[in-house]
Amino acid sequence: MLLNALKKKIKDREARIGVVGLGYVGLPLAMAFAERGFSVTGIDVDKRKITGLRAGQSYIQDVSQAVLKNALKKKRFHATDDYAVLAHLDAVLICVPTPLNKTREPDISFVVAATQKIARTLKKGFLVVLESTTYPGTTEEVMLPLLEKSGLKAERDFFLAFSPERVDPGNPHFDTISIPKVIGGVGKNSTEAAVELYGAVLKRVVEVSSAKTAEMVKLLENTFRSVNIALVNEMAIMCDHLGIDIWEVIEAAKTKPFGFMPFYPGPGIGGHCLPIDPLYLSWKSRLHGFEAKIIELASRVNEDMPLYVVKRVAHLLNLRRTPLKNAKILLLGVAYKRDVNDTRESPAFDVVRHLLDEGAQISYSDPWVPEFQKMKSKKVTVDFLRKQDCVVVLTDHAAFDWRLIKKHSKILLDTRNASKGIHV
Ligand SMILES: NC(=O)c1ccc[n+]([C@@H]2O[C@H](COP(=O)([O-])OP(=O)(O)OC[C@H]3O[C@@H](n4cnc5c(N)ncnc54)[C@H](O)[C@@H]3O)[C@@H](O)[C@H]2O)c1
Repeated sequence: MLLNALKKKIKDREARIGVVGLGYVGLPLAMAFAERGFSVTGIDVDKRKITGLRAGQSYIQDVSQAVLKNALKKKRFHATDDYAVLAHLDAVLICVPTPLNKTREPDISFVVAATQKIARTLKKGFLVVLESTTYPGTTEEVMLPLLEKSGLKAERDFFLAFSPERVDPGNPHFDTISIPKVIGGVGKNSTEAAVELYGAVLKRVVEVSSAKTAEMVKLLENTFRSVNIALVNEMAIMCDHLGIDIWEVIEAAKTKPFGFMPFYPGPGIGGHCLPIDPLYLSWKSRLHGFEAKIIELASRVNEDMPLYVVKRVAHLLNLRRTPLKNAKILLLGVAYKRDVNDTRESPAFDVVRHLLDEGAQISYSDPWVPEFQKMKSKKVTVDFLRKQDCVVVLTDHAAFDWRLIKKHSKILLDTRNASKGIHV
């Protein structure tokens, strides 16, 4: 039986694995399988990435050069832009982007393109797993028919599953191996095949009843975060009006040992997940005639935060009789979160845009991001700080010297509470 043959190959570490899309998700995943004895082929359309990887250069913070070089040396990892290699593999894990289009609707064209290419070489006993975050139904309604165009039948001839990626780039406590992996196939055989594969490498797999359940799990997780961050952002604005310190409120609230989980306000949300994933869900929901009110509202509240930050800057300057026009504003941190170099969907883009609209003179400093919006990152010195009319903390990177910043800034708007407890 095809399923048993695949399971045996996996057990014996003879199954050859492909990873399509070698970005923040795909490259660490490829390394996880390679480090645990599998032969892994990474496929990406970006030729520069392939050239770099072949030379042992990792562009992903969570994958060290040493780990990559070791995988190359042991011939456990090979990178290519040629999908034809799939003909020699036994399973493929898809980690391509799932962004929004210009009208802020799901753009699954990368998933479709990858699936169409996989369909060309699809063979009996092959396992396909989608890891990209997407709306419920993508695996079954979009990928399955594309793959079955090959003439092969899912469950009988090949296996198809969804397993959401939960990796948290830059998180030193949890990685690809230690984060439990949810898996749902388009049928029992597909689930079993995918569970066998991930179970061979990861600490824990969590089986669910269908691919669309697994797709929904990921969206619940990220929507949960987006909604709670929106709530606390709204609370933060409220607290500003009421003269209450939101950070003190959260610290006290989190002493409750049950029923409360702390979320923190900020200048908005960023990254490839939180600003996007909930909109995948609300879009799908609309197709079924149901308006996801809380999700849409939360997205709007979070999207409005950069403008609120700029309003606060204007207000603080105003108190010192300084107009925002021509004011010198230094932004600290433009990455979407602490200690990463990823600026995708970062709220810093909108903060910069709104400040420029008001005629402010902007500079920024980010130890992780050397260039941003045609600007170069500045060094934070006493002299430079003193020349600024206002300093705005957007990302609380550990490398910043908060004492120096607090001591020498005329106005400090700290949207992350990074300078908390520092007395100067
Ligand atoms: N970044 C995260 O923290 C994170 C966490 C969990 C889930 N996800 C999800 O994982 C998916 C991938 O995200 P990412 O951050 O790794 O994206 P990324 O942009 O870092 O990487 C995607 C890679 O896919 C390649 N690619 C695009 N089209 C391709 C194709 N047709 N064939 C082969 N390669 C192709 C790109 O060149 C790129 O290298 C998304 O759905 C995202 O929502 C991301």
